[in-house]
Amino acid sequence: IVAFFQPKVLKGKRVLVTAGPTFEALDPIRGITNHSSGKMGFAIARAAREAGADVTVVAGPVHLQTPRGVTRVDVKSARQMLDATLAGTANADVFIATAAVADWRPATESDQKIKKDGSGVAPTLSFTENPDILATVAKSDRAKTGRLFCVGFAAESHDLENNAQAKRARKGIPLLVGNIGPTTFGKDDNEMILVDANGVQALPRASKISLARQLVREIAKRNP
Ligand code: CTP
Ligand code: CA
Repeated sequence: IVAFFQPKVLKGKRVLVTAGPTFEALDPIRGITNHSSGKMGFAIARAAREAGADVTVVAGPVHLQTPRGVTRVDVKSARQMLDATLAGTANADVFIATAAVADWRPATESDQKIKKDGSGVAPTLSFTENPDILATVAKSDRAKTGRLFCVGFAAESHDLENNAQAKRARKGIPLLVGNIGPTTFGKDDNEMILVDANGVQALPRASKISLARQLVREIAKRNP
């Protein structure tokens, strides 16, 4: 009932949300990932849909139900997430990057299980930096010309406001949402700050769906 009565502030808009962690394979049965639950991203996808948008969520490995009416594309690695995101943002109006993308992946992926060789010496792993999905989309022609509004997320352990402002500038995006992590991972509530060119606005502690609805209204205000 509450969902049905949300104002349709994004009616006719196409919204793409990335959510959850990525999984970077090391061999066919092992890999590197993180504790992102995807809950915030899925809450935002739901809130955007309630607000009348046509919504796609590009999801890393998460254990969540797809919100009603939302199109879901499942991916594993950051590179797969980049490809699905570039395809989906080509005609989108809003891009919201909530995914906890692995910053690095193993430099090589073995096509067979890496076995102990009996020497007692552990293997040394080397890493390659993953593509920055948000920064890549933010540099696209569609974003640069104001047809695609990009929103970033940042979980910081300290000095939230300064780190969030710096990250917004570095990514070249109009709006960045900051929270103090990783304490919010998997929880059902959160508290956030919104950082834009005009400064910082606090959204006090609330459920993730309530914060998602507030964020959707803030995005709609900036995209009349
Ligand atoms: N992001 C992304 N692709 C990456 C890394 C991050 O799209 N390879 C997006 C996240 O979805 C988030 C924003 O960028 O919206 C900020 O992510 P964060 O990890 O806080 O920033 P980084 O630039 O990776 O910096 P660091 O982890 O060193 O703080
Ligand atoms: Ca990162």
